[in-house]
Amino acid sequence: MTESPDYVVETRNLVKSYGAVHAVKGVNFKLGKDEVVGLLGDNGAGKTTLIRMISGAERPTGGDILLRGEPVSMKSPRDAMHAGIETIHQYNSTVGTMSVAENIFLGREMLTGQIGNFGFLKKAEMRTLAEQSLGNVGFHLRSPDTRVGELSGGQRQGVAIARALQFQSKIMILDEPTNHISVKETNNVLDFTKNLPGRGYSGIFISHNLGHVFECCSRIVVMSRGRIVADESAEALTISDIEALL
Ligand SMILES: Nc1ncnc2c1ncn2[C@@H]1O[C@H](COP(=O)(O)OP(=O)(O)O)[C@@H](O)[C@H]1O
Ligand SMILES: [Mg+2]
Repeated sequence: MTESPDYVVETRNLVKSYGAVHAVKGVNFKLGKDEVVGLLGDNGAGKTTLIRMISGAERPTGGDILLRGEPVSMKSPRDAMHAGIETIHQYNSTVGTMSVAENIFLGREMLTGQIGNFGFLKKAEMRTLAEQSLGNVGFHLRSPDTRVGELSGGQRQGVAIARALQFQSKIMILDEPTNHISVKETNNVLDFTKNLPGRGYSGIFISHNLGHVFECCSRIVVMSRGRIVADESAEALTISDIEALL
């Protein structure tokens, strides 16, 4: 029998350079099952680059990524998606010209049948599922047919989250998900993030808001200039400890 791995995500000596810019310089990052890790650091610290490698959007220059204990070589976000990793990007990646339901199923549309009304049935099912998953995360939109371009930033974030939930991704990465959204929408996102472990998910939560991080995360990792400079349980850290590291 194989042992269950200690971490759902682990990076070993992970490196990413863009020419002379060394964005990530040998990072050993770990994400346990059913935990939410807060990833902090000043602008340019390398947070986004690190999670883009974990989500298949960037190829590492060096080092290894292990998923559930197995080394992986992901060539695209699609590979990461297949491995159960979903990313809510810093700059929302929903498509403005498509409807809410189309966005939620983008790239993974339910297969339509070959004949007659099957196509319609699947479309109706997608609309219903889209509405349900939005409701699950506390976002209620007028209609799943609304074009995403007509939504507020927070509603778009809701669509991105609903999309992730719809596919039962077990690892959720949120890169500054509360930027430019209202207080109420922020609370939805925070509630969602806080409850990830209860739903059997693990999460990486990037935010500049230390209050939000303490609210949602059980462990805190701080990066500075491409390296991890602190990795502690949230209980062991105070806001001023972290401010001193940023
Ligand atoms: N595609 C890129 N090309 C060149 N440099 C990049 C690229 N992406 C990020 N960088 C650089 O890598 C460093 C880390 O950036 P980033 O990971 O976005 O930091 P953070 O998310 O912590 O603000 C910065 O110096 C940034 O300018
Ligand atoms: Mg960033």
